[in-house]
Amino acid sequence: MWRYIALLTLLALARSEYRYNTKWFTVPLDHFGFATNATFKIKYLECDDYWDMGGGPIFFYTGNEGQIEVFANHTGFMWDIAAEFKAKIVFAEHRYYGASMPFGDKSLDNQHIGYLSSAQALADYAELINYLQKNALKPKYPVIAFGGSYGGMLAAYFRMKYPHVVAGAIAASAPIHMFPDMVPCEVFNRIVTSSYKVANSKCADNIKKSWSFIRSYAASANTSEWLRQNWNLCGPANSTLHADVLVEFLESMYVTMAMVNYPFASDFLMPLPAQPVKVVCQYLNETLKDKELLEGIGKVISVFTNNKKECLNYTEGDNYGNLNASGWDYQACTEMVMPICTTGKNDMFEPSPWNFTQYAEACHKKYNVYPRPNMARLEYGGAMLEAASNIVFSNGLLDPWAAGGILNSVSDSVKAVIIIDAAHHLDLMASNPSDPESVKMARQIHKDNIRKWIDEFNRRMAHRRA
Ligand SMILES: *[C@@H]1O[C@H](CO)[C@@H](O)[C@H](O)[C@H]1NC(C)=O
Ligand SMILES: *[C@@H]1O[C@H](CO)[C@@H](O)[C@H](O)[C@H]1NC(C)=O
Ligand SMILES: *[C@@H]1O[C@H](CO)[C@@H](O)[C@H](O)[C@H]1NC(C)=O
Ligand SMILES: *[C@@H]1O[C@H](CO)[C@@H](O)[C@H](O)[C@H]1NC(C)=O
Ligand SMILES: *[C@@H]1O[C@H](CO)[C@@H](O)[C@H](O)[C@H]1NC(C)=O
Ligand SMILES: *[C@@H]1O[C@H](CO)[C@@H](O)[C@H](O)[C@H]1NC(C)=O
Ligand SMILES: *[C@@H]1O[C@H](CO)[C@@H](O)[C@H](O)[C@H]1NC(C)=O
Ligand SMILES: *[C@@H]1O[C@H](CO)[C@@H](O)[C@H](O)[C@H]1NC(C)=O
Repeated sequence: MWRYIALLTLLALARSEYRYNTKWFTVPLDHFGFATNATFKIKYLECDDYWDMGGGPIFFYTGNEGQIEVFANHTGFMWDIAAEFKAKIVFAEHRYYGASMPFGDKSLDNQHIGYLSSAQALADYAELINYLQKNALKPKYPVIAFGGSYGGMLAAYFRMKYPHVVAGAIAASAPIHMFPDMVPCEVFNRIVTSSYKVANSKCADNIKKSWSFIRSYAASANTSEWLRQNWNLCGPANSTLHADVLVEFLESMYVTMAMVNYPFASDFLMPLPAQPVKVVCQYLNETLKDKELLEGIGKVISVFTNNKKECLNYTEGDNYGNLNASGWDYQACTEMVMPICTTGKNDMFEPSPWNFTQYAEACHKKYNVYPRPNMARLEYGGAMLEAASNIVFSNGLLDPWAAGGILNSVSDSVKAVIIIDAAHHLDLMASNPSDPESVKMARQIHKDNIRKWIDEFNRRMAHRRA
């Protein structure tokens, strides 16, 4: 018996360390004009261990906003099914993230960042596939795109824009309706709130009440010093401005934990226990106020920071966590305009309306650009997807991003899969003993579709060759 256990442990270890080769591929800086000849290299990770080079598929992850290794490590679904499909695995890094920087550490400077867009990234991926196929105009291998979140949007868009290059796409938690005038801006935070309500009946109420206490504690030297010590903050939160930043940090903490509210411990964005929302809500499970309430939130913060000894620099904002998504703000300030707001009524946050004018001014100040709010809808079709084919859109209903997801099938080949008890793209993660039935079913649907797309591709190619 003990030997059996040891073997299982070994297997578990092997699974968490996926083996791949790191490679580089040269792409044009600008795919859409001829004003520059410049090129640079994007990174991609490749594994041929399971591949049937005679015609096995290429599983291609359309990298999103972060270092590609993070996605390779947390997209276990592709690894889990590669042997069964005899697939080659490729994870391609998105330009301007990780190490795929066109201008080195100057890439995010305003004079260099302009070649960061989803369309440029998709064109990079098409060229990479052309190279992997030897010649994508006479493709030998069926290519299946995979992606989660913004990567899921890219996987879907890839199939829409390059149907001759990609046979089908698994687009997990892809909020392709999250654009202006498509969904009410408050839905996102209503879903966040409901996760906390479900965890226990007092949790969301306590969080909602906490904002005014935080602001009043920040208003006096005495209480702000208590807050600094109790929450182990690096610097004091002793002004209105500080309080704003601290409140913003906490809001994004609650959102993050709702997003990654997985049934198992995971270090996807940061190390968190299984069901983090439930874990933190145990500290907010009774009607609390004042100091008690803030002490409870202090415990929530220590779960979020994994009880680390160092003080918390709440001014670091979005750079907290594993994913360095520094370039995302620019994308959000150009084509990826996703209105999110709070009402303070149906959600547990302070009211904060969506104000595009204010948003655009902030973008102009930071990047010297003005957002084009309708660009993504024009470029990719918004809700008009009747002409698209071979895409599965999956959404977990615990995931705030489901607010902008495709929740109803568009056609026989553009299908919606709802996973009732899943957070952000749980279906793309490695299978786990704690997985709910619903996510197992979703993965089976993915596999059935992938099989179908591969068969279609092979039939078409055989026909063409005949
Ligand atoms: C990915 O996983 C490997 C192996 O477990 C680990 O060494 C590496 O640090 C991880 N990388 C990231 C970016 O998570
Ligand atoms: C591109 O390269 C060609 C050949 O080296 C050169 O003649 C041309 O001036 C370059 N164009 C630009 C826009 O840099
Ligand atoms: C303010 O500081 C004094 C002295 O340290 C302390 O006795 C008092 O309880 C503090 N007040 C509050 C509201 O924490
Ligand atoms: C906040 O605390 C810092 C450091 O203790 C102090 O220098 C600063 O004057 C305080 N600001 C306000 C508005 O009290
Ligand atoms: C709240 O959680 C604590 C710690 O888990 C527990 O001791 C307490 O009984 C709970 N209170 C209620 C009202 O459930
Ligand atoms: C906190 O982070 C900000 C932004 O990265 C930085 O400017 C500041 O020096 C940091 N403060 C501390 C105390 O580490
Ligand atoms: C994130 O990446 C950018 C661009 O490479 C870099 O300038 C920045 O220092 C990184 N931030 C963190 C927190 O690692
Ligand atoms: C939106 O922001 C602009 C610029 O900051 C401001 O002038 C305007 O009053 C705001 N609109 C609303 C409805 O709050």
